[in-house]
Amino acid sequence: MPQLEIVDLKANYGAHTVLESINLNVEKGEIVSLIGPSGSGKSTLLRVLMGLLPPIAGEVRIDGQKLDYDNREQLRAIRSQMAIVFQQYNLFQNMTVLENVTVAPIKVKGRPRKEVEDYAIRLLEKVGMGGKLRSYPDQLSGGQQQRVAIARALALQPGIVLLDEVTAALDPELVNEVLDTVRMLAADGMTMFIVSHEMGFVREVSSKVVFMDGGHVVEMGNAKQIFDAPTQARTREFVGKILRH
Ligand SMILES: Nc1ncnc2c1ncn2[C@@H]1O[C@H](COP(=O)(O)OP(=O)(O)O)[C@@H](O)[C@H]1O
Ligand SMILES: [Mg+2]
Repeated sequence: MPQLEIVDLKANYGAHTVLESINLNVEKGEIVSLIGPSGSGKSTLLRVLMGLLPPIAGEVRIDGQKLDYDNREQLRAIRSQMAIVFQQYNLFQNMTVLENVTVAPIKVKGRPRKEVEDYAIRLLEKVGMGGKLRSYPDQLSGGQQQRVAIARALALQPGIVLLDEVTAALDPELVNEVLDTVRMLAADGMTMFIVSHEMGFVREVSSKVVFMDGGHVVEMGNAKQIFDAPTQARTREFVGKILRH
């Protein structure tokens, strides 16, 4: 059974259709990259998966269980299995690195402080931030802050991680340190959705690449298919444009 199934999914903002019959199966440990022009619906799809936007048709199943967007309790449970990291890392400025990573597991999940801290320290070491536990966000570079944000997401022990343009706001020389962190998660077998404009990276890590345009999935396949031998003219055009710069 796939870990995640998206079946004939359709979503609107008001009267405006932004996702049109999306079908996608994701196995555990898969890295799915969503690519496509701005406004094609990539972030909206992640919002629907997080339970933040109810679809108007179709369904999402997680481990075979249909997401019921009217059932708050179930939504909360689903949300706790998913972690999302955005372009804007939004760390709590008045908290240290360690506090940023431990606050939700302690306050929201009610887990024991010592256990949460030990785990958080291990995560922060893993993302190369073990030396900055007592630093505040404004003492860190953008790349370091984003790595803390990724550790914060992982501290909730999610089953699926959604990364929405996590390197888009970073200076070019800081992009790679964040991508290295994502590479490590991929190697650990974490199931991930990645939205990124770093096409070299997408090509390297993805088990599945989904090209979206205007709320539709135009084409999906493995990285080699999508980048080297796209079957759709629209995909060829997009990939050609993006690989040229
Ligand atoms: N909160 C919102 N309210 C209304 N329309 C929105 C909202 N967010 C996004 N949209 C519209 O939905 C479409 C898809 O947007 P989005 O999912 O953000 O695309 P992408 O992430 O691929 O750039 C766009 O036409 C966008 O203008
Ligand atoms: Mg987006």
